[in-house]
Amino acid sequence: MGLVPTMGSLHEGHISLVEKSTSQNGITAVSIFVNPTQFNEKQDFESYPRNLDDDLDILARFPVDIVFAPPAKEIYPKPDTRVFDFGGLDRIMEGEHRPGHFNGVAQVVSRFFEIITPDRAYFGEKDFQQMVIIRKMVLDLKSSVRIIGCPIIREENGLAMSSRNRLLSAGERNSAARIHKALTLAKEKAGEVEIPRLIEQTIQFLHEDPRLKTEYFEIIDDQNLKPLSHWSSAGGKRACIAVKIGNVRLIDNMDFSF
Ligand code: PAF
Repeated sequence: MGLVPTMGSLHEGHISLVEKSTSQNGITAVSIFVNPTQFNEKQDFESYPRNLDDDLDILARFPVDIVFAPPAKEIYPKPDTRVFDFGGLDRIMEGEHRPGHFNGVAQVVSRFFEIITPDRAYFGEKDFQQMVIIRKMVLDLKSSVRIIGCPIIREENGLAMSSRNRLLSAGERNSAARIHKALTLAKEKAGEVEIPRLIEQTIQFLHEDPRLKTEYFEIIDDQNLKPLSHWSSAGGKRACIAVKIGNVRLIDNMDFSF
């Protein structure tokens, strides 16, 4: 059985996970649950888009066997007080800007694994840090679930697909395309321009559009997520970014290995 965990408001990124799961498993389950414990801001939890009827219509077009859309009480019959140790993987980037976020993700994903008992679970690489942290959680819990990472799906203008894109106005959506452009331009200079300078240039490029406010832009080791300060040809590298446009916070990343 394959599990595709989602928070709903399904888009083509989710569909690519569903298709991967249906191609690799006899049974595919999709969970739809906006998990309160992974939101560190009440306002963000409340404004997170919810479209269960549309989601069910979309899933009906695919050979999905189970849709699990539980009430919060089923996932958390009592408050979940578990604290996970991610060995520092959660202290940078998303973890630094969203304290407690990954603990909440681990709580809900581990509950899904207990309840649904999948063999494989599918996660998008758009949430790269989340994927690495879930792999660590699975190792620590000695869980047998195989974590399958799936590539980022982009809109025509390069914007990474995300449920949060629905919260953008048409103008903001245009501005958001600059994030992918910035990553692409930076990648062309990977290995050539020194990392601190490249980070500075990339942020400068982003801020030429006054709608964009960069929260972080890091070039990291893709195994231990440690920020890199100089280039070396060894090891995988990834550029990770979070940008705010109005009240909407978007993340993206790109493989910078060479
Ligand atoms: O990536 C997401 O949509 C969520 O973090 C997840 C994995 C479904 C847990 O709520």
